Amino acid sequence: MSQPLTFEFTHLLNQFSDVQLHTLFKKREVVKQTIKQKRQAGDLGFLDLPYQKNISDLKKNAQKIKNSCETLLVIGIGGSSLGAKAAIEALETRSKTQVLFLENPNPVTLERTLQKINLKKTAINVISKSGATLETLSLFFIVFEKLRKAVPEKQLKEKIWITTELTKNPLYKIAQEYSFPVLPIPHTVPGRYSVLSSVGLFPLLVAGLDVEELLAGAAFIDQNSRDTYLYGTLAYGTHQLLKKPLTVFFPYDERLSLLGDWFCQLWAESLAKSESSGPTPLKAIGAMDQHSLLQLFLQGPRDKWYTLLAIDTYESSLESSLAIPQTKLLKEFSYLANIPLEKVLQAEQKITEKSLIQFENPVCRITLPSVSTYSLGALFYHFELAAAVAGYLYEINPFDQPAVEQGKILTHKLLKGENLDF
Ligand code: PA5
Repeated sequence: MSQPLTFEFTHLLNQFSDVQLHTLFKKREVVKQTIKQKRQAGDLGFLDLPYQKNISDLKKNAQKIKNSCETLLVIGIGGSSLGAKAAIEALETRSKTQVLFLENPNPVTLERTLQKINLKKTAINVISKSGATLETLSLFFIVFEKLRKAVPEKQLKEKIWITTELTKNPLYKIAQEYSFPVLPIPHTVPGRYSVLSSVGLFPLLVAGLDVEELLAGAAFIDQNSRDTYLYGTLAYGTHQLLKKPLTVFFPYDERLSLLGDWFCQLWAESLAKSESSGPTPLKAIGAMDQHSLLQLFLQGPRDKWYTLLAIDTYESSLESSLAIPQTKLLKEFSYLANIPLEKVLQAEQKITEKSLIQFENPVCRITLPSVSTYSLGALFYHFELAAAVAGYLYEINPFDQPAVEQGKILTHKLLKGENLDF
């Protein structure tokens, strides 16, 4: 199997003293054992997703939608939508069925989305692990009533797909009552670690993506996890020992912008569980943010460390437009003639990396051979495992989100008309 990602840690490692590294690596060994034991006990199901067996069923079901629908409307939020959205933004989708997402209970966005689609030719995939998320249920109830008016009652069963945990949750109850097909989310796969489960795979199959390739990339990292353990350990170390509370995810490719949002959610919800355990994640996109955030990064406070994502090959089907042509427009720029456009972006990435280092910011680099399904699967798995490693080093639970749950409960109460004490 070819390597989906290459890691460069030299500069980051050099920031730590030998004693610090010794301490970090000793702790890492303990965490390795913890993860191994928990995995063997079946508690970390998301780590086994690259080897799941139900792919052919998911494929068959996705094919039904591809055969009959112009649109798949995914209703979900947070871990139930960000991963698939990120993959669809990053990769070239080849399906005639478009996949759209409804996340926020915003009437304007809902109206705009509904205006874009023909409900008669639309399938709905409602995704919620808890089956009780207010945003998701509110949107679903509205869309369901509209769909009911648009298609005969008996067709509803073929148009609504519920992705949830098989527990007595509200969404699962609805699915049972109306006989909507259910795509299960395993109990041991937390929301933001679920992109490689039915949560992400089903929309991605409808979008025409090769999910086996995605899982192969993830399996590669599972079987070659040394660098991922090192990344998780150094992420913890830069925060706790080098005192860098902010971590910047910095791909040199705007196709990975939503992956940045996915990363920020994973990092924030997984690792922030106390005053001392919350590294703040940030996203920047090269080269655009060289004209925005980079000034802050270079001359602002030295409170951040950086993960640059470099791309070896930017594949494009527009061969003729790839290189900068000879131009008589301005002689001073003649040195640009015949330079492939990707070399401009790659030069910018190199210079940014060097400048960050020059201004004494800790940096590591992950290189993708190209933005492919295989490399994306590897990135998903890499950051999920690294979040678990960092979480155990902080000695917190990286899989829960008590503060978010508290907000969900209070919003339900407020909408029920209950009197809240603030
Ligand atoms: O990672 C998480 O657990 C959260 O971000 C959830 O994915 C998000 O709150 C949505 O929850 P649910 O899938 O239960 O609707």
